[in-house]
This record gives sequence, structure tokens and C-alpha cells, in this order.
Amino acid sequence: MSDTHPAGKVRYGGFLQAVRLILFILYFSAGSIAIVASEFIGSPLYFYNKDLFYAYISLTKQSFGTLVTTGTQWWTPTTIRISGDKSVRGQIRITEDGLLECDFPERMVFIANHQLYSDWLYIWWIAYAARMHGAVYIILKESLKWVPIVGWGMQLYGFIFVARNWAKDQERFKHRLEKIAAKDRKPQDRPPMWLLIFPEGTNMCPNARASSKKFADKMGIKNPDHVLLPRVTGLQYCLQQLDESVEWVYDCTMAYEGIPRDKYGQDIFTLRAQYLQGRPPKSVNLHFRRFRISEIPYNDTKKFEQWMRDRWTEKDEMMETYMQTGRLPGDDEEVEVLSNGGTTNPGKKVGKTPTAKGNVVETAVKLRNWFEVPKIFMVPM
Ligand SMILES: *[C@@H]1O[C@H](CO)[C@@H](O)[C@H](O)[C@H]1NC(C)=O
Repeated sequence: MSDTHPAGKVRYGGFLQAVRLILFILYFSAGSIAIVASEFIGSPLYFYNKDLFYAYISLTKQSFGTLVTTGTQWWTPTTIRISGDKSVRGQIRITEDGLLECDFPERMVFIANHQLYSDWLYIWWIAYAARMHGAVYIILKESLKWVPIVGWGMQLYGFIFVARNWAKDQERFKHRLEKIAAKDRKPQDRPPMWLLIFPEGTNMCPNARASSKKFADKMGIKNPDHVLLPRVTGLQYCLQQLDESVEWVYDCTMAYEGIPRDKYGQDIFTLRAQYLQGRPPKSVNLHFRRFRISEIPYNDTKKFEQWMRDRWTEKDEMMETYMQTGRLPGDDEEVEVLSNGGTTNPGKKVGKTPTAKGNVVETAVKLRNWFEVPKIFMVPM
């Protein structure tokens, strides 16, 4: 079995695996405790000046983004390929040092297909590359709210906890969305926010796939091969509540190298394989496109369902292209490489695929500056 793993042989033996595990636990607990301590230290600001409080919390959220990014950089380093269609043209760049820069807006709803627990780690890094890692809002299971320390920290972050019971959850969405929509403010005064939603509701696994198929059969539509049918209620509600306070939905399609057609990523890229054995996917592939919210029919449930299904059918097609060619499609324009001096070099072509004319950049999850690491352990100022 180990010889046929798509990420190759086990790289670290028992002893090194134990060392990696211990270091990981130490780094993450120390980082999380330091961050949550900073959140608590700053929380009295709430009673003094709410804007100051939210700005402070955003700095501690940046630290969390740094923690997550270094976790990926150090424990599961791999090649990342990024591409997009013409709707994001010019927004994805790479510096001469190979660092990714995403020129994405400050306020958006970010949607993606959901294959693995590690999806959100890569999205957090994308937020980092866009310098928006202090503005991320995620939706989590209710049970996580009460995990000691980390759970409290996540509550202070304004994350949305859901019980998978829409009557209950709607209230929480409403409360949080009112805050992040900030409709009482002028557009330029609204704080940055990236609301991250996985419309599939759960990662790809046999049970989820079975219920997606059941639903598809009931509706008389095709069950996608590589994604799950999207659920629309939560996302529709978010778009309705946010409406003109946010301009864009960004859609990311994510594909991991080495998941065979009849297998599930969660069984191959387990925490153990990735973090301990040193077998992350050989590459992680991300494709971006964006949609103007005012052009999405979110006020009409039937039309919105159809709109989402059409987008997911396109994603399924992109995933099929990936299965066949090893690349997600790219745009036809070359991706810019920024020299550090600020002059722009000609684009660096990394991969052309038979089915897509466009360009794909290769990069890695990496911090801009190692000095960001000690900042995790300091009270932000
Ligand atoms: C949806 O309805 C709201 C409230 O009536 C309106 O402000 C918004 O422009 C509508 N959006 C679209 C895309 O039709």
C-alpha cells in the first residue's frame, strides 16, 4: 500500500515522525495560546472603542494566518499551481522570489469546492498572499465553539458557528452578517472581510457523495463526478444580507495531485500522511474566477439554484480536465512576474496544457519574511 501512495514513499521513519508530531503540537499550541492571550489582552478595547477593538482582533487574526501558513510551509511543503480565467486577469502575480501576490479586493465572499480538511489552509494562505489574512471569516461546526482556548479565540474572531439546523443558524448568520456588511457605513469605511464558504457543506467522502447522488436522482439532474452538488440556502442568505455591501464572489476550484477517480482525498492525504510521514500531495492546484454579486440572481431561489448548479458543473468540467491533463485550465494571457525593484518582467510560463491555452504559475506556500513568525508570539501593536 505504502508503495502505491501517490505522494511516494514514506519520507520519515517512526522516530522522525514522533519528532515531527511533537514539534507540530508544540508550535501550534504555543502559537494558539499566544494568539488567544493577545486577543484577551486586547478585549477591554471593546468597551473603549469598538473600531479599535476590531482592528486589534484583525491583527491577531493575521497572526493566526501566519501560524497556519508556516504550518503548511514547514510540515507539508509542496508545489502550488495557480491559474484563473480572464475575470481575474492581472490579479495573480508572482515575485522574482517566487512569492505569490494576489491583487484581490478587500471585501468578498469566497467560495470553493471542498475535498479535504486542508482546503481551508490553502485558502488562508491565499488571503495571506492578498494581505487579507486579518479579514477572514469562516463557518464552523457548533461543537468547536467550546474547545478550550482555541474555541474562545475563534469566538472573538467573529467566526460563524452552525448547528446544521437552519432555523437556529439563520439567526447567527444574520447577527454576524449585519456586522460585516456594515451597511450603516460609507462603502470606503467598511472593514475588509473575506467570508469563506464551502457550498458543498462537507468535504468529499462516500456518505456525502451518496447523498449528493440521491438528491441528483430526485431532481433528475446529473450528479457531478468530482464535486458534490452545492447547497444553496446558506450562501443565498449571505448574498441577500450582504447585497450591495460586497461587490464580488470569488470562486476557487481546488484539485490535489494524486487522487484517483474512484478514491477520496481524505483517505489518501490523511493528517498522518501529510504532517508526519512527509507525504503531502505532489501538487495543489487552484483556479480562480470571480462574479459580480449584482449579476447573480440571488433574490430568486429557483434561478439561484440553477446558477449555482451551472457553476458547479463548470467546476466539475475543470476537475475532469485536471484528471485528464494534470492541469486546471488557465487564462490565455501570461501571468506577470514582478521583479523586486518594481519593474515588470515578461511573464514566466510554467505550464501549458493541451486543453487550455492559458498560463499557470508555480509557487509554494511561503512567508514573505521570517520576522513574521516571532510576531505570532507578541502582543500586536
Ligand atoms: C435583490 O433584492 C434587493 C432588495 O430588494 C435589492 O437591493 C437587490 O438589488 C436585488 N439584487 C439582485 C441581484 O436582483
